[in-house]
Amino acid sequence: LGGGPLRGRRVIVTSGPTHEPIDPVRYIANRSSGAQGTAIAQALAALGAEVVFVTGPAQVPPPRNVQLVPVETAQEMLEAVQTALPADAAVFAAAVADWRVAEAADRKIKKTPDTLPSLEFVENPDILATVSGLSEGRPPLVVGFAAETNDVVENATAKRARKGCDWIVANDVSPGTGIMGGRENAVTLITPDGAEAWERAGKDVVAARLARRIAEALT
Ligand code: C5P
Repeated sequence: LGGGPLRGRRVIVTSGPTHEPIDPVRYIANRSSGAQGTAIAQALAALGAEVVFVTGPAQVPPPRNVQLVPVETAQEMLEAVQTALPADAAVFAAAVADWRVAEAADRKIKKTPDTLPSLEFVENPDILATVSGLSEGRPPLVVGFAAETNDVVENATAKRARKGCDWIVANDVSPGTGIMGGRENAVTLITPDGAEAWERAGKDVVAARLARRIAEALT
């Protein structure tokens, strides 16, 4: 192992979408590629951190030099995060599905004439809020994300309070920015000290900057 300011520090990173099953062959998902979470895990590892990378089914190859924990559903992601605790910091970059199908069928749902299936949903656990609210074993630094299309600072500041996390990385995903699924990101970092708008840059540059800030916060 090399040096680096995060040597000896353990950081959990969630990334990618989750897949929520409907039946054995069908699922509900979202368009998260996992690119930003992967870049963050890579940047933390480059600073010497021991990274546990809990990832849903992503579109990009996983980072190197991390402990890879592949999961499918939100419930599996929460369990994997709980198993990975304790940690010095946790970065929740995953696009977790808000709902899952109440009872996934254990056989393929058949197409039947004249009747359409209907799906009933239940809420998934909120991993960020759950870990932020731990009274024992809460990581000293918990970082959440917020994808916003308007009133970015106001909405993300409210989200920080609601979730109980320490920082929120807010990105402007307004249509026309090309950020959703793109190579670049424009983020505002919300901390207890206020809001910092970072200039638009490659997702790897944003990741490196966030990793440096995490290293500063932990020393
Ligand atoms: O509530 P919203 O999805 O906008 O919050 C986004 C933040 O919360 C992200 O950091 C995301 O990873 C996290 N989150 C989570 N579990 C959920 C929903 C969101 O950890 N079920």
